[in-house]
Amino acid sequence: MASRILLLAFLALVSSHAIASDPSPLQDFCVADKTSHVFVNGLVCKNPNDVRADDFFFSGLDRPGDTANKLGSNVTLVNVEKIAGLNTLGISLARIDFAPYGLNPPHIHPRATEILTVLEGSLYVGFVTSNTDNRLFAKVINKGDVFVFPQGLIHFQFNYGTKNAVAIAALSSQNPGVITVANAVFGSKPPISRDVLAKAFQVDKKTIDWLQAQFWMDNNN
Ligand SMILES: *[C@@H]1O[C@H](CO)[C@@H](O)[C@H](O)[C@H]1NC(C)=O
Repeated sequence: MASRILLLAFLALVSSHAIASDPSPLQDFCVADKTSHVFVNGLVCKNPNDVRADDFFFSGLDRPGDTANKLGSNVTLVNVEKIAGLNTLGISLARIDFAPYGLNPPHIHPRATEILTVLEGSLYVGFVTSNTDNRLFAKVINKGDVFVFPQGLIHFQFNYGTKNAVAIAALSSQNPGVITVANAVFGSKPPISRDVLAKAFQVDKKTIDWLQAQFWMDNNN
């Protein structure tokens, strides 16, 4: 009887503990060992004796990304791929460049909340809540303004101005992930069945064929 109560108490404790971000590190650092063939949740640590200052270093965020593409935007993401020392630390950084009328199209970061500030120009930014009410929160933000995009919600940034815009964003994961809505839905390989998409989007199949024939570029680097 006592052991059953203990078990129930234990289960209650375990099930009420929600992990809302990357797991906390259990040591000072765990610099990713990119040569390891072991697959774990995250990346394997390299020997701390071999860790150098350069494992925590990246250079080049002063250089604008090339925005001469279909979207007129370019995201330079500094995640654990670029700085091995970010592994397990639950944080990353991005520079986003926008040509006039450039768009960072509706996308999701499955593993991170994003906080963004405008360095140059102004942006129309927004996110949409989940299906409870699909509410849009959107705003024009200018140089020095800061806006937050909650984890897992569809969001976008649009430069509707006639000058370039630049933003810096911090994300609460060393590997935030990006799902660009149009690319995932209309540009999947192999394509999602047109019957599925025609019904889902309530349009005819020709419209789906047309959408699937477009080039859905990725503006993330
Ligand atoms: C973004 O900019 C970088 C640096 O100029 C460039 O190498 C890359 O091809 C650009 N990506 C896109 C999608 O335009």
